[in-house]
Amino acid sequence: MTQLSDALAAGKQRVETALDAALPHSAITPSRLHQAMRYATLGPGKRLRPFLVYQAGAMVGQTGAVLDAPACAVEMIHAYSLAHDDLPAMDDDDLRRGQPTCHRAFDEATAILVGDALQALAFRLIAAHESLSAEQRLAMIETLSAAIGSRGMAGGQAMDLAAIGQSISAAELEDMHVHKTGALILASLRLGALCGDKVDASAAQQLERYGRCIGLAFQVHDDILDTVGDAERIGKASGADALRDKPTYPGLMGLDQARRFAGELRDEAVSALIDFGPQADTLRALADYVVERDH
Ligand code: IPE
Ligand code: IPE
Ligand code: MG
Ligand code: MG
Ligand code: MG
Repeated sequence: MTQLSDALAAGKQRVETALDAALPHSAITPSRLHQAMRYATLGPGKRLRPFLVYQAGAMVGQTGAVLDAPACAVEMIHAYSLAHDDLPAMDDDDLRRGQPTCHRAFDEATAILVGDALQALAFRLIAAHESLSAEQRLAMIETLSAAIGSRGMAGGQAMDLAAIGQSISAAELEDMHVHKTGALILASLRLGALCGDKVDASAAQQLERYGRCIGLAFQVHDDILDTVGDAERIGKASGADALRDKPTYPGLMGLDQARRFAGELRDEAVSALIDFGPQADTLRALADYVVERDH
């Protein structure tokens, strides 16, 4: 696990330096918006999605600077999604990463604009990435936009909101999670792979299966953490999502069964990488981390 922690720490440092450089300085007009974009992006996140870009990139022989732009782009999209997810019209949360949410630290209109501007900047970083060919950039833009639109993340968020107060089936809950969280996680791997020369079709397929499994496992475990953490924080047996009447995996199948399901997805993710040698060890260890992390 220490090898993974070292790799995660290195990826985090690398992308944070790149994000700091890519985000407009807070002194540039409109300064409040730029300050809020930096606040929403540079807070203490795990940087899992950039890490996936770096890892998938390494699998296709790319390292370093070429991967920084897509790594920043996926984290900017993620930060945008969180700023909007926390808004009163969505999850109405006061805390994000242990700090006041963007609309609490600034105001609602600014948090909406932060999302708009981060999304645009993410695509611009890829479009303007001169170390990659025009074909590669176009494929990356296509991949990322498909993953976050109405048939991806935004659609998943719509399903999440539509499910409030409803009882939904396990299949519907899975579909929601796959869209709202899984799609960007899978896109992060795809973007990294797109930075290399042509990837072998069967290797690409295995990475896809790995990405689908950890993407879903990630949100199942997020639900578990929300349930356990909120239960401690608010002193109720169920968490804040349950109080908002949102379907979650622990709510649907109970904590033990949800943990078991996350473990099965982890096993499937690891078995997807069976044909890769030691070069995939970090991704294998990451699958454990996804379902064992405590935050
Ligand atoms: C939280 O994502 C929101 C979900 C999509 C489940 P992360 O747990 O990756 O959040 P940070 O970036 O580390 O704060
Ligand atoms: C967030 O899901 C998904 C996106 C932001 C796309 P959650 O609403 O479960 O995430 P947290 O629990 O607020 O981090
Ligand atoms: Mg939400
Ligand atoms: Mg939320
Ligand atoms: Mg959650």
